[in-house]
Amino acid sequence: MGNLGKDSCLGVIGAGTMGSGIAQLAASFGHKVILFDTNSVVLKQAGEKLKKSLDVLVQKGKITDDAAKSTIANIHNASSYNEFAQCNLIIEAVVENISVKQEIFEKLEQIVTVDCVLATNTSSLSVTSIAASCNHTERVIGIHFFNPAPIMPLVEIVPGLATHKSTIDESRTLIDSLNKTTVIVKDTPGFIVNRVARPFYGEAIRIYEEGIADFATIDWAMKEIGGFKMGPFELMDFIGNDINFKVTETVWTQLFYDNRYKPSLTQKRLFEAGFWGRKRSRGYYSYAEGAVMPEPTKDKALGQEIFNRIISMLINEAYDAWYLKIASKEDLELAMTKGVNYPKGLIKWSEEIGLEKILNRLLQLNELYLEDRYRPSILLRKLAKK
Ligand code: NAI
Repeated sequence: MGNLGKDSCLGVIGAGTMGSGIAQLAASFGHKVILFDTNSVVLKQAGEKLKKSLDVLVQKGKITDDAAKSTIANIHNASSYNEFAQCNLIIEAVVENISVKQEIFEKLEQIVTVDCVLATNTSSLSVTSIAASCNHTERVIGIHFFNPAPIMPLVEIVPGLATHKSTIDESRTLIDSLNKTTVIVKDTPGFIVNRVARPFYGEAIRIYEEGIADFATIDWAMKEIGGFKMGPFELMDFIGNDINFKVTETVWTQLFYDNRYKPSLTQKRLFEAGFWGRKRSRGYYSYAEGAVMPEPTKDKALGQEIFNRIISMLINEAYDAWYLKIASKEDLELAMTKGVNYPKGLIKWSEEIGLEKILNRLLQLNELYLEDRYRPSILLRKLAKK
């Protein structure tokens, strides 16, 4: 494989939210970036937006004028795929559509050198299935940035079934050069973060649907008792109910309709109504001008019950991912603290609460609801017995 250290040439395909963020990040760390989008207006706008946001950073004294200028100079807008011939690594960040991505990878293989790494930023498609369109599947990998890419510290590296170790090492070297924390994750639906975090949203919605508490009270409980920076409903409104609902639906269907990941009708209706959250001024809460946020019921016992149920489900998910070797224990902890800002790693948290307590809560829920959703992970059961 080629040299992916400092000063390597990076190709970015797609100049939307993620592609433009990745291009900015790499350029700000001195890499030469070739950026391409089939929509020339989007490509042009990406440059203009970048200039504006760098100007703001200069005005605030966060970066120097020289740094802003060199970031801009490092990005070259390409007019065709042929310009990717000089790249050491190419990251694809186009629409989440398997056939579009496969077509791009197929085309790239005819242009790039044999040692060029081909990466996808997909958040929900299988890296292995994208790689299947290539002759050299060993050089294809998932490099999953979070939004906004220049700011979020975590990157999930996802080898496909045929990815060669050198491709993983080269990708890691590149991501290290961007000052990010990397975790390695098996090519499975939702990777680490989007899988393990599902109960934070799903269980919160269940609690609401059952009439146990309203949105504001559940959010309050998770912040006040759990120490989370945002409650589940605030966070879903922030991420967007369109995106959050789609991720849940994709993880659920790709895991063969496992009940643990089942989407909710509550969020589906919000999605259908266009109540996507902050960006639409309406989600679980209203963000219209003059709107007042509802007051939570600050009942400690109720708050504790809500927190206990959600944290037990989150911990169960982390143990299952560990058991299924989706990632190492250390990477699971890193991913949840760096990727979604959890106050503690879920395994560490489980040890503080006590594994037996978590297991008993899950067994109680399982007995009460008679639902597969609440089945405790085999690893949690084994370790709790010890
Ligand atoms: P976006 O819709 O903002 O940008 C996609 C861009 O790709 C558009 O500008 C479009 O014109 C361009 N495009 C479409 N087909 C193309 C082609 N054949 N060749 C070149 N350009 C093409 O999408 P976004 O949000 O940036 O997502 C891109 C990828 O990143 C998706 O795979 C998504 O799952 C993933 N992702 C998105 C995150 C997010 O929060 N938005 C977070 C992490 C990953």
